[in-house]
Amino acid sequence: MRESDVPAVAEIERRAYAFPWRETTFRDCLRVGHRCFVIELDGMIVGYGLFSLVFEECHLLNLCIDPDYQGRGLGRLLLRRLCRIASGGGAERVYLEVRPSNEVALGLYRSEGFREIGRRPRYYPAAEGREDAIVMEKRLKPERPATG
Ligand SMILES: CC(C)(COP(=O)(O)OP(=O)(O)OC[C@H]1O[C@@H](n2cnc3c(N)ncnc32)[C@H](O)[C@@H]1OP(=O)(O)O)[C@@H](O)C(=O)NCCC(=O)NCCS
Repeated sequence: MRESDVPAVAEIERRAYAFPWRETTFRDCLRVGHRCFVIELDGMIVGYGLFSLVFEECHLLNLCIDPDYQGRGLGRLLLRRLCRIASGGGAERVYLEVRPSNEVALGLYRSEGFREIGRRPRYYPAAEGREDAIVMEKRLKPERPATG
């Protein structure tokens, strides 16, 4: 993702989420050096994914496919690609938060090997008050067996 991609990305964000990130959040992510990627079809941005990488821990910050292009395998493709890039950068674990009501995303994450490791109560704004976040983790490399 380049700075010049941000308006198109933020436009998808507004159509995909009830509580979208603002353009400035994407610009901040680029500025602080988070890994930010777009997925293009025929030169048009149809999705994006952002993660932070600190030593062996990757935190998936946003994964989104344009609503007009959802359900075609692009979300899974992008998630796998992001995990590969993170792994190549030294990540051993990927963490993410997801709304319990987001069944599509939950189905995707579970089928890609993410497991629930906790909850953050009242983490997200919601139509009526707040909604918890499910925290999920995926290990990218098997842990070494304990020795000795
Ligand atoms: C979540 C999201 C990234 C998935 O991307 P996508 O391209 O639509 O999903 P894919 O076509 O790759 O499908 C991946 C899996 O998601 C689930 N899924 C996709 N569409 C679904 C639907 N309409 N109903 C239920 N599950 C669905 C399935 O498990 C599917 O796997 P399968 O095709 O093997 O059954 C996308 O829907 C999206 O951007 N949603 C809005 C933003 C968002 O919620 N992001 C996640 C924040 S944590």
